[in-house]
Amino acid sequence: MARNIKIVFIADIVGEHAVSYVVDQIPALKRQYTPDFIVANIENAQNGKGINVPLAMKLKRAGVQGMTSGNHIWDIRNRDVLNEPELSSMLIRPGNYPEELPGKGYTFLRTETAQIAIVNIQGLTFMENIQCPFSYLENNLIPIRSKSKLIIVDFHGEATSEKRAFAACFDGKVSAVIGTHTHVQTADEQILERGSGIITDAGMTGPVNSVIGMDQLSAIERFRKHIPNHYKLAGGEIRMNGVCLEIDAESGKCLKIERITQ
Ligand SMILES: [Fe+2]
Ligand SMILES: [Fe+2]
Repeated sequence: MARNIKIVFIADIVGEHAVSYVVDQIPALKRQYTPDFIVANIENAQNGKGINVPLAMKLKRAGVQGMTSGNHIWDIRNRDVLNEPELSSMLIRPGNYPEELPGKGYTFLRTETAQIAIVNIQGLTFMENIQCPFSYLENNLIPIRSKSKLIIVDFHGEATSEKRAFAACFDGKVSAVIGTHTHVQTADEQILERGSGIITDAGMTGPVNSVIGMDQLSAIERFRKHIPNHYKLAGGEIRMNGVCLEIDAESGKCLKIERITQ
């Protein structure tokens, strides 16, 4: 009988201190959840905007096997990180951005005994007007499913309704849809009727005393004055959010979805 596969997904890592915090927490995560795979959203790792090669390598060496991203991956000047040979099989960006941009929208992660697909897609509501996320997955589902029925989608989006509609649309066709981008963990984790796990947003791994990772005073300025304001990362205590998924290795259906905060 095939055993179940466990995946720990770490929510948007914001800043270098949060990267170090994740590295420190991985042994405890492994003890507590015994994951086959650890995947993290790294779109804000480098001072809140994207990631660089040293930070990605630091996470890889610590045990992160897959990395997803989002709109802030494009803020970095050196986008070569998306084509770095040591990272290209594990680091993805939303697939529904134009194809000519570097990087890709899905990849396969393997251990000696298991294989999963991770897919990164971005929503349209209150975000960039890129290719339809629904069409993107419809067009790529057959090649992905031909290699793995265990499919984890990081849906990077602003609107809860769009993320729930996306999960409903692909219920039973993917193992789980994990929302990212808002940096606020939602309490709506659920296994849908046909077996897909969903959480609207996994939250943030970043500074506790902040406005979604940003320094509180600079965030207040931004909202009160309505003028562009230099992005300033908050300091202080870090907290990690995420989810642990348990997936049936044969059917790809989600058996359990559990929120993580530590
Ligand atoms: Fe983010
Ligand atoms: Fe984002």
